[in-house]
Amino acid sequence: MKIAVIGTGYVGLVSGTCFAEWGNEVACVDMNAEKILGLRRGKLPIYEPGLDELVERNYAEGRLSFTTDIAKAVKDAAAVFIAVGTPSRPGHGDADLSFIYMAAKEIAPLLAENAVVVVKSTVPVGTGDAVEKIIAVKRRRGTFSVASNPEFLREGVAIRDFLEPDRVVIGVADERAREVLMEIYGAPLAQVDAPIVVAKRRTSELIKYASNAFLATKITFINELADLCEQVGTDVEELALGMGLDKRIGASFLNAGPGYGGSCFPKDTLALLRTAQDHGVALRIVQETASANEARKRRMALKVMDAIGGNIDGLTIAVLGLTFKPDTDDMREAPSVPLIETLQRFGAIVRAHDPVGMENAARMLENVELLEDPYECARGADAVVIVTDWDSIQNLDLVRLRRTMRSPVLVDLRGAFKAGLAEEAGFHVSAIGRPALRPVELSPGFPDTRYRLPGASEASGRVLGGRYDH
Ligand code: UGA
Repeated sequence: MKIAVIGTGYVGLVSGTCFAEWGNEVACVDMNAEKILGLRRGKLPIYEPGLDELVERNYAEGRLSFTTDIAKAVKDAAAVFIAVGTPSRPGHGDADLSFIYMAAKEIAPLLAENAVVVVKSTVPVGTGDAVEKIIAVKRRRGTFSVASNPEFLREGVAIRDFLEPDRVVIGVADERAREVLMEIYGAPLAQVDAPIVVAKRRTSELIKYASNAFLATKITFINELADLCEQVGTDVEELALGMGLDKRIGASFLNAGPGYGGSCFPKDTLALLRTAQDHGVALRIVQETASANEARKRRMALKVMDAIGGNIDGLTIAVLGLTFKPDTDDMREAPSVPLIETLQRFGAIVRAHDPVGMENAARMLENVELLEDPYECARGADAVVIVTDWDSIQNLDLVRLRRTMRSPVLVDLRGAFKAGLAEEAGFHVSAIGRPALRPVELSPGFPDTRYRLPGASEASGRVLGGRYDH
C-alpha cells in the first residue's frame, strides 16, 4: 500500500519505517529540509536502538523515501498518517493542536479519492471530528475518511513495540477507514498474534490518554510505597515482586524511581486533566498523580542532601545518568534537571555523565561539567547519584568507583544496584525504597557476614527473591 507520513519526529519516523518494513511503499514528509537531507544520507534526528539499520535497509530497498514535497507524497497515498507534535501549551497544559490543523489544511486539497487520514499524534477527544471538518471545508468535493490510531511506543524499545505490540487501537467512523487500517495492520499483527481493537474514533483518542495516565498512576503508586518502605524497613523491589506476580496487577511499571519524565506522561496527564475540566469532570486520581510526581522530582535533592549529612555547600556531587530513562538521548522532563538545579542552589558543585544524552543535556544545564568517563566524573566527589539506570552504569566497577571518590556516598534513585552490592564495595548507600545497610569494610581482616546470598542448593521449586538475610 502507498502510505504518506507527515512529520518525521519520533513517532513519524518509527511508524513510517516499520510500515515500510512490512512491505508498504512509504513517503515520510517533513518541512525541515535539513532533516530530510540528513535522513536521505542515513543521519537520524533521534537516537533509537535499531532504527538506523531499519531506515538504511528500507531506504536502500526503495520502500522508504524522505521528502519535503507534501503534494508528491500525498497525491496517491491510500493512507496519510499525521504524526506531528502536540506539545503542551505553555501555562495551559492542554495540547497545542496547531501543527495537526496545519497538516490537515495542507493535505486537504492534495488527497487521493477515498484516502484515509489517520491521526497518529496524541490528541484530545474530538480532534478527529475537527480534522474532518477542516478537510471537508478545504476539499469541497471527493470522499475521504478520518481515523485515529494512537501509538504506544516507548522510547528505547520503539521498534519492538511497533512490530510486536500488546495491541493496536484503531478508531474509525466508517467502513473505508476500517478496511484500509486492517489492510495495513491485519496480516503483520496476525503473525505476532497481537490483537487489534476497533473502536469509535473518540474512544480511540481517549484510550491513549487513559493508558498513559494509568501507567503514570501505577508508577506514582509504587513511588509512594517506596517512601513508606524506607520508613518501615522493607524493600520496595521485594514488595513489587510480590504484588506484580498477581496477574491482575502485573509486574511492569512497578519500578520505583525519582518520578516519571519524558515527552509523554507529564504532558499527557496535564492534557487529560484539561479535557476533564472542560467537561466538568474531576479526575482526582490523575490530578494527584501529576502533582505528586512534580513534587517528588523536586524532593530528590533533599534525599541526596540527607545522604551526605545535610549541608552540601561547596561539596562536589557526581550525577550518573541524565536522560529521562535509559536507551534514549531524550532529556525532556528528565528528573536529573530539577535535581541538579536544586543541588546547585544549595551550593554544590555538580559534575555529570550520561552515555548518550550529554549533547542534549548541555543545552539544558548550566555550570555542570559533563564527562565522558563515569570514573572521571566521580573523581574526588563527595557523593555519586544514580539518576538513570543505563546498563553501562549498572555494570560499573563499584570498588574502582568508590576508590576515586573523596567520600563513599552513593545515592541510588533507580534501584540500579541490588541491595548489598554497593555496600559490599564499601559505599554508604541511600537507595529508593529500602532502608540503609551498613557498608562493608574493604580492608582484609574484616569479613562481613551480613549478606547471606542463598546458594542454588538452598532453592527448591520456583523460588523468587530472597537476596539477603537482614
Ligand atoms: C510512554 C508509554 O510507555 C508509551 O506506551 C507511550 O506510547 C509513550 O509514552 C507516548 O505517549 O508516546 P515513554 O515516555 O517513552 O513511553 O517512556 P516509559 O518507558 O513509559 O517511561 C516514562 C517514564 O516513567 C520514565 O521517566 C521512566 O523512567 C518512568 N518509569 C517507567 C518509572 O519510573 N518506573 C517504571 O516502572 C516505568
